[in-house]
Amino acid sequence: METRRDFIRKTTASAFGLSGLGASLSMLNLPEFKFAGSGTTADVRKSLLLKEGLVYMNTGSLGPSPAWVSQRIFEITRILESNPVVQNWGELGKEMEAVRNKAAAFLDCEVDEIVLTRNTTEGLSMVSSTLKMRAGDEILTTNHEHGGGETGLDYLARVSGAKVVKLKMPMPAESIDQVVDSVVSALTPKTRALMLSHITTITGLRMPLRQIAEAIRGKDIFFIADGAQAAGMIEINVKELGVDVYATSGHKWLMGPKETGLLYVKKDVQDKINPVFTASGYQSYSASSGTRNVAQLITLGEVLNWHEKMGKSNVEKQCRDLCDYCYQQLEDVQGVKIISPSEPELRSAMVSIDIEAGTPKSKVFEGLRADDIVVKSLPKYNALRLSNHIFNTKEDVDKTIAGLKKYVG
Ligand SMILES: Cc1ncc(COP(=O)(O)O)c(C=O)c1O
Repeated sequence: METRRDFIRKTTASAFGLSGLGASLSMLNLPEFKFAGSGTTADVRKSLLLKEGLVYMNTGSLGPSPAWVSQRIFEITRILESNPVVQNWGELGKEMEAVRNKAAAFLDCEVDEIVLTRNTTEGLSMVSSTLKMRAGDEILTTNHEHGGGETGLDYLARVSGAKVVKLKMPMPAESIDQVVDSVVSALTPKTRALMLSHITTITGLRMPLRQIAEAIRGKDIFFIADGAQAAGMIEINVKELGVDVYATSGHKWLMGPKETGLLYVKKDVQDKINPVFTASGYQSYSASSGTRNVAQLITLGEVLNWHEKMGKSNVEKQCRDLCDYCYQQLEDVQGVKIISPSEPELRSAMVSIDIEAGTPKSKVFEGLRADDIVVKSLPKYNALRLSNHIFNTKEDVDKTIAGLKKYVG
């Protein structure tokens, strides 16, 4: 029987068109990358470096990368180290710049609207640290945002005298109209900025960004989208969504290199935010951005190709189908309540459960950890979140449900 180690060796070698890593090390030109796997659950799962037997239900915090991602970073680093200056500002530098084109195609925008960042937090902070606000202005957001977005808004409020207003999200949310109405009714004539997650970190709610953008059109409100949980999980078309900026990470659902991210800044609003980072242009390397990690960024581009090849809508459907199964199985667990939306259009590939009073979530979380089941413990709630990605199986869900039954109550 083919082992995972055999599979990793085979797909990595054929991905590089090489007979093995030894052969690849002698190459100084960047070989064309071809992903050898089919992108099915079994193939993706076998290509991961996850500990044998681990049930990994927390892509929402950090995604596991296929082995070829690490191999590729290593391979490109070897090429870089063969002649650092010549490679960094030569062949590899050109490859790195080309990643912005891939990112633009991935998010459906223009290349000069893309910045390659280190993560979502950095992208959002670049925006909020330079957005112009006046004392008394309001920045609307929700009580379900992640600290990575909130920190920048708090900073903006502190330096400008503006006020952050947090809308209390309905839980569970019942319909698109209800969510749109709650956002719209929290706007005031003073609202100058709005920040919403595309997929919220607390309940996995899929925010109806397009409908909200339509509702605020013409109101002079700067619309910031936190897409940390979306890229690699659902299809994203930033133009259709109608947001002004969109930030995401490469190391969650994209399963790409750690410390990589994308930031979209719509052409029309680029003069409203002027981070030093983009002062000398949006290129990956520029006087204001400095020397970058070419190996990580080039590999991020290859990860985007890989997702295109698997088909973003196929990935989305597969994750959603598994999450629907997870919802169904959770119905049978005594002592937990699903706090994620039941309405299909508001659902994503993450489902969160509130642990009923009497059982601290730490007991359940630690019990699952001891059984090699990794889930997310949600801050401020007695709740846990389960992420269902393309490499997860019904068996993973079943084991998690059995673990919940064992530790809840
Ligand atoms: C909605 C949301 N925004 C931002 C972040 C921060 O992401 P990163 O650490 O990649 O910047 C997270 C991380 O979980 C998140 O869920």
